[in-house]
Amino acid sequence: MTLRFADRMARLGTEGAFEVLAQARVLEAQGREIIHLEIGEPDFDTPPNIVDAAVKAMRDGHTHYTPASGIMEVRQAVARSVTENTGVETSPLNVVLTPGSKNIIHFALLSLVSPGDEVLVPDPGYPNYASLTNFTGAVPVSVPMRESRDFRLDVEELRTLVTDRTRMIILNTPANPTGGCLTASDILAIAGIAIERDLVVLSDELYWRLIYEGEHVSPYSIPGMAERTVLIDGLSKAWAMCGWRLGMGVMPVELAKSMGTLMINTSSCTASFTQLATVEALESPLSDAAVDAMREEFRTRRDLVVERLNRIPGVRCHRPAGAFYVFPNITGTGWNERALAHSLLHEAGVAVLPGTAFGAHGAGFLRLSYANSVPNLERALERIAVHLAAAGPAAS
Ligand SMILES: Cc1ncc(COP(=O)(O)O)c(C=O)c1O
Repeated sequence: MTLRFADRMARLGTEGAFEVLAQARVLEAQGREIIHLEIGEPDFDTPPNIVDAAVKAMRDGHTHYTPASGIMEVRQAVARSVTENTGVETSPLNVVLTPGSKNIIHFALLSLVSPGDEVLVPDPGYPNYASLTNFTGAVPVSVPMRESRDFRLDVEELRTLVTDRTRMIILNTPANPTGGCLTASDILAIAGIAIERDLVVLSDELYWRLIYEGEHVSPYSIPGMAERTVLIDGLSKAWAMCGWRLGMGVMPVELAKSMGTLMINTSSCTASFTQLATVEALESPLSDAAVDAMREEFRTRRDLVVERLNRIPGVRCHRPAGAFYVFPNITGTGWNERALAHSLLHEAGVAVLPGTAFGAHGAGFLRLSYANSVPNLERALERIAVHLAAAGPAAS
């Protein structure tokens, strides 16, 4: 039989990182050696004390279903950490635990946005924002993140993009793919717009522990914002736990209840031992020390990558203040981003992403993840420099 797919499937996008990774794996299976700068996954192992906590949980019999929104004592630990970090008194009833922070994005859109509504999404931005907005039948509206503004949005421009159909603003700081960070005054001004226009702010703060300069301010901490903010955090990036699958959402209680219902209908719960290991991740000084050490290593790598990219003729790389990505401008090389990413993979053995995998405003840029070892980063940058010098600008 010919399967007839539902119309909504045509509206669902994908993530360039997973697509390029699959292409790279095909080349590797053919014997090619590829350096992976496409996927946003820390190359470190999960801190051993967190692994031990999960093993202990399993040995203690925590291998069953849990309440759909998460084990109460784990939600309590998340609430404690949010209260401490934002100064906003947060209850476990405000917290939902899901198998990855992606679910919080999806559930927030499913719960709060109807077909035809508009959602303001960063461009370039994490592709799931626009993809999942389209999937719900709503309309993603691009908010440009310009290199000239250190990849921060322009608050006055944002104001002009709000219409009577706008329901939600999605923020991501520090940002994937640019590493750009919003300032405290940006957050304050955006909060003012959200309150004035009665909008929800979906604040994806997955990378907030990976900030190298400046301070992180969550919109959740601004007076009047807790009631309209969905704060997203998760274990994947800062603790090197992508495969464990744990996202944390902090939100008004009635929205948390709605997400609990979505969890009952989709996943039942996220893994019990992953949840229990979350307490160790959030509360053990050993975990804090591990995150600090990883952040310092990322800082060294960032400095190396930015410096080497800026040495390549035609490449200009802004120094990002957070996350583990750089977003170099390659317009001076004469290449377009898709052709260059393709030829770097196939001819130079370096997997990177074209900026347009993150939205139309990514044209003329590449995204490189520096979640890879210093020797690998050095080899990759050498290959990129040699490839551009040999291929020349006319090649695209
Ligand atoms: C900005 C951002 N949000 C959310 C996610 C999803 O992460 P996870 O579902 O592993 O928590 C990612 C992953 O790359 C990301 O970069």
